[in-house]
Amino acid sequence: MGRFVPLSIPNFEGNEETYVLDAVRQGWVSTGGAYITELEEKLVSFTGAPAVAACQSGTAALHLALLECNVQPEDMVIVPTLTFIAAVNPVRYQFADPVFMDCDDSLCMDPEKLARFCREECELRKGVRDKGDAGVPKEADDEEYLVYRRSGQRIRAVIVVHVFGNLADMEAVMDIAARYHLRVIEDATEALGSVFTSGRYAGRMAGTIGDFGAYSFNGNKIITTGGGGAVTAADPGELSHIRYISTQAKDDPLFYVHDEIGYNYRMTNLQAALGVAQMEELPEFIRRKTENYNAYKEQLSGYKKGFLLPFRKNTKPNYWFYSLVLNEDTRKNGVRSLVQRLQEQGVQTRPVWGLIHQQKPYGGCIAYRIEKAVFYSERIINLPSGTQLTEEDLAYVVEVLRGI
Ligand SMILES: Cc1ncc(COP(=O)(O)O)c(C=O)c1O
Repeated sequence: MGRFVPLSIPNFEGNEETYVLDAVRQGWVSTGGAYITELEEKLVSFTGAPAVAACQSGTAALHLALLECNVQPEDMVIVPTLTFIAAVNPVRYQFADPVFMDCDDSLCMDPEKLARFCREECELRKGVRDKGDAGVPKEADDEEYLVYRRSGQRIRAVIVVHVFGNLADMEAVMDIAARYHLRVIEDATEALGSVFTSGRYAGRMAGTIGDFGAYSFNGNKIITTGGGGAVTAADPGELSHIRYISTQAKDDPLFYVHDEIGYNYRMTNLQAALGVAQMEELPEFIRRKTENYNAYKEQLSGYKKGFLLPFRKNTKPNYWFYSLVLNEDTRKNGVRSLVQRLQEQGVQTRPVWGLIHQQKPYGGCIAYRIEKAVFYSERIINLPSGTQLTEEDLAYVVEVLRGI
């Protein structure tokens, strides 16, 4: 059998087997156990987030953040269209409506369009009482909030995705959110470890800048717990409430008193055991991904069929996924057939996601001036980026790309 270079596969070179076996032998396999706390502590010390709650998935982390934002049926939440659909679905879990926003050249949300949408299509209102859970007024009468003018729907929050480990323009996003009273949820599911190196957020990591951050430890992410995730909150009170609703909202664990609707979203100790081992390796994984990105960049210089998408300046990304932007001729010849031909030669690649505003469940939602997302979604393929990628594998990928 010839060479096969996968897109990205989990890497268990460290203490994974030892810790998982330990959790099994201890009998702590469910939603209690020391590995869960240890993973949370490791995430806090690595990211600098004030507190972290481990949960079942990145999707659950995003849902918990939306619940904490008090997103109600018929509210609106601004989301990107160029993303994995899990960044958007939790908006619908709350029976709210997504508003789809375009990307900039980093593939993350375009803050200029976000600002323009808020300025031209929306208005700030105040004075109308907003009912919270169970009809209890939650917000003060004089609090300003943003409304989509055409429908009168309240816009609660914006979900910003740090696509492929590239950081969104958080300075601009945070300024817009402050101006229009929007809560900011960072979808950092792909960006654990990406950090700003200068500017207002120098030293701050993805997931620790907005009101909430979500991480994913799905099998294809930079670290994995099989399935799993974590949520951060700037306000420790909000994080402890998230923790409470993620564990069935138990007010009295002995007599089973519940004052709110809760969720079974807590991570298990088995998953966390894997996560603790993976956290030990995370700096090394980032180092390898950085090195491999730089090697691709060097070896693909002068490549005629496309170019390697750069990451944002003044950041140190985790280089989770590498994007090759195909030129017009190559695109016209068919991205699907290109991916197939690469696969036949043992190089696994993947086209970028289908845009979410074009997906069936989201037909009829507002999509605001989507242009760049269309351009990039038609042209990007992701190259093999696993942490086991060897120098020979990488040279082989480039050779196949050059020959095709
Ligand atoms: C951008 C984005 N958001 C959300 C998710 C959901 O994470 P999970 O698979 O852990 O639910 C993922 C990854 O799967 C993702 O890539």
